[in-house]
Amino acid sequence: MTALELIRALARDALVGIVVTDARIDQPGPTILYANPAFGRLVGRDPDEIVGLSPRFMQGKETRRAVLDAYRHALAAGQRFHGYLTNYRADGTKYRAEVDCRPFYDAHGRIDCFVAFEREVVRRIGRPVSTGVAGRYEPASVSQDLLTDALRALGVFEAI
Ligand SMILES: Cc1cc2nc3c(=O)[nH]c(=O)nc-3n(C[C@H](O)[C@H](O)[C@H](O)COP(=O)(O)O)c2cc1C
Repeated sequence: MTALELIRALARDALVGIVVTDARIDQPGPTILYANPAFGRLVGRDPDEIVGLSPRFMQGKETRRAVLDAYRHALAAGQRFHGYLTNYRADGTKYRAEVDCRPFYDAHGRIDCFVAFEREVVRRIGRPVSTGVAGRYEPASVSQDLLTDALRALGVFEAI
């Protein structure tokens, strides 16, 4: 079983958006290899339709270049990226996405693919729970399923 087959099996019923790309960072990459139904709902597209595209299709006027530069840097260094991006759905509506993207390495130590966990967040009303950008946002909806618990145990969406 390849990493992609394994992720596909686990991600299908997950409530969190999961998207897998190839390891090519430069245009026209990274190319989407798989997106789960929750990711399709997040971006307002049929997940099968976005296979073959670059995740850049969600970007727009208010997507901050500085955050994308940090994202690119992390991908190039083979490191995790955790951050908040302004993105746009197919119908043009804007949303704030929390993205936790990790490289998957093959047995030879090369990056096989990137896997990102994504969810919509909204500005927290009232005082932030902590200093820093993470404290300013909270998930738009709270999912309670087994995979969400497992992802929490893996530190997905945690600030480190
Ligand atoms: C698995 C994965 C998921 C991504 N998801 C998003 C996303 O949801 N929104 C976004 O704006 N960029 C996303 N990106 C980042 C862009 O594809 C791209 O890497 C980023 O714009 C920085 O590269 P650039 O400076 O060449 O544009 C994702 C990248 C990867 C590898």
